[in-house]
Amino acid sequence: AATTVYQAESATVSQGVVESNHAGYTGTGFVNYDNASGSYVQWTVNAAAAGTATLTVRFANGTTTNRPMTIAVNGTTAASGVAFNGTGNWDTWQDVNVNVTLNAGANTVRATATTANGGPNVDKLTV
Ligand code: GCU
Ligand code: CA
Ligand code: CA
Repeated sequence: AATTVYQAESATVSQGVVESNHAGYTGTGFVNYDNASGSYVQWTVNAAAAGTATLTVRFANGTTTNRPMTIAVNGTTAASGVAFNGTGNWDTWQDVNVNVTLNAGANTVRATATTANGGPNVDKLTV
């Protein structure tokens, strides 16, 4: 099926900042989560029909420590403890996939850091 790209730098950000000082991002930048639990990026995702969908989060983590996040859809946790492991450096990006159920029409997708390290740097969400 066709996919749609939702850039992190165009999303709603709480406790984070849009930056472009590391290479390899798409669009115009990425979100640097504050190093704080509860920091999040929230996208509005449109689905043509209700049903299951694969969310793909593109991220970089230049540390060697996992930066887990909770993925919530429409305010309900869809996946907790999703691993965003080290990618080698801040210029190296990887994808994490999460399967969720979406409503027809607009859905909120929120990726919230759950440790004091905050989230990884996040480039985009693809659905
Ligand atoms: C560095 C890096 C940031 C990253 C941060 C972190 O400061 O330049 O892009 O977000 O580390 O550890 O979260
Ligand atoms: Ca950060
Ligand atoms: Ca981006």
